[in-house]
Amino acid sequence: MSAPNDAKRTLHIDPYEKNWMRISIILVIVFAAAVTVAGFALGFQVPSPEERVDPNNLTGPWENPGLRELSPGVYELYVIGNATTWQFEPRDVEIPVDSTVTIYVTSRDIQHGFKLQDTNINMQILPGQVSKLTHVFEEAGEYPYICTEYCGVGHAAMFGNLTVVEK
Ligand code: CUA
Repeated sequence: MSAPNDAKRTLHIDPYEKNWMRISIILVIVFAAAVTVAGFALGFQVPSPEERVDPNNLTGPWENPGLRELSPGVYELYVIGNATTWQFEPRDVEIPVDSTVTIYVTSRDIQHGFKLQDTNINMQILPGQVSKLTHVFEEAGEYPYICTEYCGVGHAAMFGNLTVVEK
C-alpha cells in the first residue's frame, strides 16, 4: 500500500503542464460564463430560419418589402438584399419609439449580411431562406444597417437607415 503522497509523486506532471491545464480549465469556465451572460443577460438571439422562398420569384409580402403595422406599436419589416443594385430594399425605414419590430430578411441573388447598429440584430442573408429577429426600439435615433458579408464590388455601398422617431 502506498501513501497518498506516493501516489501524487507518481503522476509526474510537469509544473508548466499543470499551469496550462489550469489555464485551459479557466478558459472553459470563462467561455461558458460569456455564453450564459450573452444569452440570458444581454438577450442575444440566434436568427431562426423562418421559411424557404424562391429567390427568383419572391411573392406575398416580398413583392412590396418594407414596414407593416400589425397592431399599435407592433410591426414587421421585410428587407431584401440585392446585388444587382447593391442596395437593401427598402433603404430607409421610419418607426415610432417603443415599437416592437420583427425583421425578416432574404436575398434576391447572393449572400449578404444585415447588421443593425446599436442593437443585437445581426443576420446572414441567404437566397432561398428567410431569417428573422425581433427588437424593441426603446430609444429614438438613427439605426444604420449595413451589409456584413462581402458580396461584390458594391458591398461597401450597401447600407440603409432605420430612424426611430419620438411619438
Ligand atoms: Cu451585400 Cu455585402
